[in-house]
Amino acid sequence: PAPAPGFPLPTQHTQQAFDPASDFTSKWTRADARQIMAQSDSTVAPGANSMSPDVTMPEIPQDFPAMNDDVWVWDTWSLTDENANQISYKGWDVIFSLVADRHAGYGFDQRHWNARIGYFFRKTNADPAKDKWNYGGHLFLDNTSIGNTEWSGSTRLMQGNHVNVFYTATTFYDVAERNAGGGGIAPDAVIAKALGNIHADQNGVTFDGFQHTKLLEPDGKMYQTKAQNAGFAFRDPYTFVDPAHPGKTYMVFEGNTAAKRGDYQCKAEDLGYRPGEPHAESVTDVQNSGAYFQTANVGLAVADNKDLTKWSFLPPILSGNCVNDQTERPQIFIQNENGKNKYYLFTISHQFTYAAGMRGPDGVYGFVGDGIRSDYQPMNNSGLALGSPTDLNLPSESPEAPTPNQNGRQFQAYSHYVQPGGLVQSFIDNVNGVRGGSLSPTVKINFRNGVSQVDRNFGRNGLGPFGYLPTNVRVGGEGLY
Ligand code: FRU
Repeated sequence: PAPAPGFPLPTQHTQQAFDPASDFTSKWTRADARQIMAQSDSTVAPGANSMSPDVTMPEIPQDFPAMNDDVWVWDTWSLTDENANQISYKGWDVIFSLVADRHAGYGFDQRHWNARIGYFFRKTNADPAKDKWNYGGHLFLDNTSIGNTEWSGSTRLMQGNHVNVFYTATTFYDVAERNAGGGGIAPDAVIAKALGNIHADQNGVTFDGFQHTKLLEPDGKMYQTKAQNAGFAFRDPYTFVDPAHPGKTYMVFEGNTAAKRGDYQCKAEDLGYRPGEPHAESVTDVQNSGAYFQTANVGLAVADNKDLTKWSFLPPILSGNCVNDQTERPQIFIQNENGKNKYYLFTISHQFTYAAGMRGPDGVYGFVGDGIRSDYQPMNNSGLALGSPTDLNLPSESPEAPTPNQNGRQFQAYSHYVQPGGLVQSFIDNVNGVRGGSLSPTVKINFRNGVSQVDRNFGRNGLGPFGYLPTNVRVGGEGLY
């Protein structure tokens, strides 16, 4: 393809698969991520959406309903199997969400310091436009999880009625920080799991018997530790099996490249320019801009036993060094295209975590390759799959402090999760100044060959029902529904 005027060509990626245990890490490069601006319209009126409608989430109405009046709801995932199928259990759809008390006297932006995993259920054949999700309360009993807050993860139905909840156990040491929302002693983070039981009858769904096990702590060699950087990320486990490697269970998670904060040196391969590229930046200029502070990666681990209680790190499958600092809630979605399995890696990121010189929206980013470890091709050449409406010509901001002249929906949604059928769910953060804490209308993206497009024929002008997380596989219930 011809480059957009003034912009470089993206990096060439082969999509070639490598052994999951090998040390090839795919790079989401500056040349790749600069395609976001190459595809953005530099001539829109200030504050309009500058992105292509193909990658823009339709506008969420300002009068959105609250999913629950007692808890704020954000990162959400379904009960799944090891192949990312969403499971209806004995006639019930079950979802898990980070929740925080709406009445405890702290604000929406303090939710992270008070996060617990809650769950909701609703009849599998419910009308998603009318029937509300029933709130089941906290998943774990108070003071039983590892750590004092529970951050994102994933939940898998195992044999019989056993469930494994993979989650991030984040521990804050500074009570003032928990209440004020930041600035105090850095938290610890470990990846943990809890094995418990799901029960369902005509009244709904309950859980009990959770046994918690610590699984992984960052090693400081591949994955950055708190000692190396107080602002490190180590979280959001998602487990799956790979048909190309039967018998093994893998986990992807959010990490950072291991090094003491500030020590990372930007490399030519992080920039990814083709030889002779007229719009290339120099490694020195990028390094001098301070872009080395941004060192996101998507981590990979493999289970060492059938109980999934012992895991070993493998090298990261993707890095965004000198591009972005956070690749959150990663997931692997396998789709058959032309008789061949294509591996889509989806991950969410923010505008405020981009490195100097880079600009992109809050949203979900995607990468496609021939295996879980491959030379991933960023979707739509840039990586951006679905972003909140944003004028990318204006400087980046954060949801706590947006300016009035930006698009009022630049932070409308976050924590997108791609479900079977390209249905993308997320939570509402800030719609024109109205703070959310509830699930967004689900939208649909159609994707193939690494190219995606928002389906504006889905729902109403592209907006489906709020919190639409349908199931596609039924378990139990003896055919009663
Ligand atoms: C994404 C996220 C996750 C984390 C959670 C904490 O919205 O940052 O990475 O687990 O929120 O609230």
